Amino acid sequence: MMARSASLCLSLVLAVPLVAQAQDANRPVTFSKDVAPIFQRACQTCHHAGTSAPMSLVTYQEARPWARAVKQRVVLRDMPPWHLDKTAGIRKYKNDRSLSDPEISTIARWVDAGAPEGNPADMPPPLNFSRESEWFIGEPDLLVTTNQDFVMYPNGPDWWIDQFGEVKLDEDRWIKAMEIKPSNPKIVHHAVVYAIEPDAPDGTPVSGVMLHEYAVGKYGDIFSENTGRLLKKGTRLRYDMHYFAMGSEQHNRTTIAFKFYPKGVVPKYQVRSVPIRNIPNDDLEIPPNSVVRTDGYYRLTRNARIDAFQPHMHMRGRAMTLEAINLDNTTTVLSSVDRFNFNWHINYIYADDVTPLLPAGTVLHMIGIHDNTAANPRNPDPSVWAGFGERSVDDMLQVWLNIVYLDDAEFKHAVEERKAKQAAAK
Ligand code: HEC
Repeated sequence: MMARSASLCLSLVLAVPLVAQAQDANRPVTFSKDVAPIFQRACQTCHHAGTSAPMSLVTYQEARPWARAVKQRVVLRDMPPWHLDKTAGIRKYKNDRSLSDPEISTIARWVDAGAPEGNPADMPPPLNFSRESEWFIGEPDLLVTTNQDFVMYPNGPDWWIDQFGEVKLDEDRWIKAMEIKPSNPKIVHHAVVYAIEPDAPDGTPVSGVMLHEYAVGKYGDIFSENTGRLLKKGTRLRYDMHYFAMGSEQHNRTTIAFKFYPKGVVPKYQVRSVPIRNIPNDDLEIPPNSVVRTDGYYRLTRNARIDAFQPHMHMRGRAMTLEAINLDNTTTVLSSVDRFNFNWHINYIYADDVTPLLPAGTVLHMIGIHDNTAANPRNPDPSVWAGFGERSVDDMLQVWLNIVYLDDAEFKHAVEERKAKQAAAK
């Protein structure tokens, strides 16, 4: 809305752009001029030769046969994978790759017009993709690879399986950056790596706490300055893998790379991955042929800054909302995923100037919706009861949050700094 009224004001002042804009709206949309720049920004990191995405969307010749499917996926907001309700809660994310409404409409108009190429001279210069074998976080300090070679059958349904690897360290180290790479990305839809720590506190899931996730197009995460996460010696890593069959027998091993802070350096801000579940006992009751809402609560005992939000459900998962029940008994929606898709494990990373700053005593409230009806295309069987479990045919309701705990002085400082920035922006 704001953008539209702003451009209207501008056009009233400057009559010339108004005319130019009107002509622009009538000009046929072409691949070279209009669509290729959108594909470059939002699609090609995944859709280029050599990745596991089903096709390249780099050249016109490559993209043309997919035009119908592109329109369908884009209009449904299936692609690019970004499943947030953009009208709810916090709007600014560091890794937002979603399309704007005008971009969606440009793509739809292009397809409706018969997907014309236009003038090849209008094409933006092609992007250069680094080789998939490179580490984007730089030279790693430690690599941890799955213990065993995994053999994927040539044909059959997708396969979800846990694999393991051991962290071999003499002492605990602070992680600065992480990146996951499968040896055979063609068959790997995703990998989520969990840390099973040797002396985890009570209440920690036995299956570990989330460390990092990989899917095509994802090239590692580097923590902000002076921010890190502890990797304990003796940690076992669980690699939650999703494979697909591609017509011939295939092998894979997955590696996670770490870059550490120098020995002895302790970052000021320490990230923890905190799971919020529908505690206390993971009661999750999803009767056949029904849509069910389940709630989970978590009381913050310390002041917290929340850096990222990652919902975790299984095949019946449809939506998840996270809100804060504030000390004054108001509630604030933080984020809401309204088209959850179990095939994508997306960590929604808040922009630095909007990370929720929540005082101790705030209650985090998670609302999950599971769809156990035939209308859910991923539902393995709407005629059975489903409950909590680790298998993908069982279900779950969990949010992973990247939390940095702040002492009172740090918290006060962060809140004041935020207020000052907001005041300056007005
Ligand atoms: C993060 C990586 C990623 C990004 C970004 C991405 N895609 Fe995809 N896309 C995939 C993967 C992986 C698949 C196949 C598996 C699936 O559908 O989940 C896919 C599937 C598709 C399909 C379905 C192909 C078929 O077999 O029918 C279309 C169409 C598509 N993408 C278009 C796009 C467009 C257009 C964009 C950008 C606007 C985009 N994608 C951005 C990874 C990505």
